[in-house]
Amino acid sequence: MEIESKKLNLEVAGMSLRNPGILASGFLGISQAIFERIYDEGAGAVVSKSISKYPMEGYRNPTIVIIENKSYINAVGLSNPGYEAFFEEVKENDRVPLIVSLVGSDPSDFEVMTKKLNRSSINGFEINLSCPHVQKLGMEVGDDPKMVKSIVETTKSNTTKPVFVKVGVGNTNILDISQAAINAGADGITAINTIRAMKISIDNFNPILSNKIGGLSGNSIKPIAIRCVYELSKKFNVPIIGCGGVSNWEDAVEFMIAGATSFQVGTALGYDGMSIFNAINGGIVKYLDKKGFQSVKELIGRSHKY
Ligand SMILES: Cc1cc2nc3c(=O)[nH]c(=O)nc-3n(C[C@H](O)[C@H](O)[C@H](O)COP(=O)(O)O)c2cc1C
Repeated sequence: MEIESKKLNLEVAGMSLRNPGILASGFLGISQAIFERIYDEGAGAVVSKSISKYPMEGYRNPTIVIIENKSYINAVGLSNPGYEAFFEEVKENDRVPLIVSLVGSDPSDFEVMTKKLNRSSINGFEINLSCPHVQKLGMEVGDDPKMVKSIVETTKSNTTKPVFVKVGVGNTNILDISQAAINAGADGITAINTIRAMKISIDNFNPILSNKIGGLSGNSIKPIAIRCVYELSKKFNVPIIGCGGVSNWEDAVEFMIAGATSFQVGTALGYDGMSIFNAINGGIVKYLDKKGFQSVKELIGRSHKY
């Protein structure tokens, strides 16, 4: 049962959400049944695992290592069944606000996927331009502003649904990449993805992940994500969706005060389970009451005044 409160209702790039908490891409897979379950557990919306044109197997195990500070390093390798199988999975969706995450290596990949998925009752797209550990996809594309422009323009011209662009901390400044995406018509920015990282065994001297290098997520990246959201929301007039280390209502509130219109939750689900969305919703409502705010919207960008 979700915590219902009008104080949590808001709009993100034209999508009406009952609350600002969104499931981050890559958690809980791509099954419609799981999307419904997490929605029933209190998520305001759901982002699918990143979907590609062709099925991708991903890397060999180990693909995830659990580290200190409620964090992971992962190199799953964007394993997914491809957009055609995904379409069959979600085509009957009629009640979950669903954002489909797309990954590809050039504009034509995005054209094919958007055309087909646009016909399903999904609510928007999130372009993953920031996966830090897969060659020719994600960050390798997202570090090139010209490619970003052309991918976003192609995606926008094939859908009327909102298109978010997910940026990360790569070689190119996050503000420059976001500027390229917004100039090309992006309706919002999701920040951030995981950050390149490693874990090495001191017993057998091996890097632990099969891919050696992976992406750091969870509480360890939160201060970096907060800085990115703050800078992005000061500079741009589109909604910024905060992502990176949200594990309780205090983190969620901090992201919104930094300038996020809503926030995503990923790694913390692995530590605290699906009830985390309701716990966050309940905490935010109590905080709003205590502070005398009528709506969660009053939090957005409040730190900018100082
Ligand atoms: C196991 C795993 C798989 C992920 N898969 C994706 C993905 O398919 N697409 C994507 O855009 N981000 C992916 N991410 C990144 C998350 O969506 C998110 O940006 C990142 O984990 C930071 O948020 P968090 O600290 O709340 O986990 C993945 C992260 C993890 C740990």
